[in-house]
Amino acid sequence: LYIGVDLGTSAVKLLLMDGAGHIEKIVSKEYPIYFPHPGWSEQNPEDWFAQTMDGLKELLSECDKSQVAGISFGGQMHGLVILDEKDQVIRPALLWNDGRTYEECDYLNNVIGKEKLSEYTANISFTGFTAPKILWVKNKEPENFAKIKKIMLPKDYIAYKLSGVHCTDVSDASGMLIFDVKNRCWSKEMMEICGITEEQLAKVYESYEAVGNVLPEIAEELGIPKTVKVVAGAGDNAAAAVGTGTVGDGRCNISLGTSGTIFISSEKFGVDKYNALHAFAHADGHYHLMGCMLSAASCNKWWMDEIIGTKDYAAEQKAIEKLGENHVFFLPYLMGERSPHNNPNARGTFIGMTMDTTRADMTQAVLEGVAFALRDSLEVAKSLGIHIERTKICGGGAKSPLWRKMIANIMNLKVDMIESEEGPALGGAMLAAVACGEYKNVEEAAEKLVKVTGTVEPDPELAAKYEEKYQQFKQIYPACKPLFE
Ligand code: XUL
Repeated sequence: LYIGVDLGTSAVKLLLMDGAGHIEKIVSKEYPIYFPHPGWSEQNPEDWFAQTMDGLKELLSECDKSQVAGISFGGQMHGLVILDEKDQVIRPALLWNDGRTYEECDYLNNVIGKEKLSEYTANISFTGFTAPKILWVKNKEPENFAKIKKIMLPKDYIAYKLSGVHCTDVSDASGMLIFDVKNRCWSKEMMEICGITEEQLAKVYESYEAVGNVLPEIAEELGIPKTVKVVAGAGDNAAAAVGTGTVGDGRCNISLGTSGTIFISSEKFGVDKYNALHAFAHADGHYHLMGCMLSAASCNKWWMDEIIGTKDYAAEQKAIEKLGENHVFFLPYLMGERSPHNNPNARGTFIGMTMDTTRADMTQAVLEGVAFALRDSLEVAKSLGIHIERTKICGGGAKSPLWRKMIANIMNLKVDMIESEEGPALGGAMLAAVACGEYKNVEEAAEKLVKVTGTVEPDPELAAKYEEKYQQFKQIYPACKPLFE
């Protein structure tokens, strides 16, 4: 049996899979997220670990625990976890959607310079990335900076608590802006720029490599063998790509989670010359490009939970009748925006309402706004000469047939659905299975385990209507930008 842990932003999801890829059980445990100032976003790593352990106990409660062989991860990327010399967490983690490091990004991109950053790491700085967060702690909390013994990413903190090994993997390390993506090693130049040493960073593994075994006390607490392998795992997007079979060359996956991403796998290393898409190492041993929007399914959650005040998302979506004809537009920048605008000050915006605008029109605008914003990243990929006709889809938002239809028609892509939307957790379990020798490599695991259950084809008439709408949507951000300063 293999366990996949998806350490997400709203919850940790744990999945139990047998060697043939059959999903036996899924458990989810929530934890709080804190927004101490507008644009800031934090969580307590101790909450992650406590909920992961609780979740593991529940996950394993009915199975033959002696059969557990490996555990691995997909984790929210970029978060800064800092540990002191006693391996205690120094301060709450700064998350991937935290926008406080505006000045540090400005320093990195404009004083060090985008060309240098791109030469050292293949990427430029975005506020959510880890290096500007390290600089923020250095500048704003020098007493905390002085205490740092280890710098870790969210899922790696869990791997450390389970195995006692300070580890990370190539895909997640890529999002730190301290990692030389092309050569898959830490960048000396970036360590120097951040004022840190290699000893403060974790040891880097490929995603499908074991970092060690579970600690004896963990094995005892969970009732699993001491031989259970802890496997490096991947950032949640690379893990989701594994879980949806987006490996090898030229495949695409869209994830509609708290964030929204478009992920393009590539056998060769490549950089986006416009610096809008991230160039990262993939969990299959190769590379990928990715556009990331900071609020995707979370826009719908905000609209449903906070504004409309309902938990019945499906009923709200049922009231949406006419696609491609909505006069209302929504800019989904509730946490600022990463790809392609790189603007932490961007904000959510409704535009185009009239006296006869309905609640359903507004709900529709929210869902469409996310799809239009994802298309912005697809357009960047196209301008790089990348040709994409179809995509997989995963994440909580992928459960909505209406949203899938919007994605297919707004992006004009064939959208393949797979058996399970649990991309990162499934990908984590698959990486564990590869490390335990169940499959020769990640590609073989993907080929054997990922099954497409249906495809949403774009409808030419609807896609044409949405094309017109997208041309209008594209003009809204530049027009509003001065108001976001
Ligand atoms: C990717 C990113 C998000 C988080 C969400 O660059 O920041 O997708 O990984 O968990």
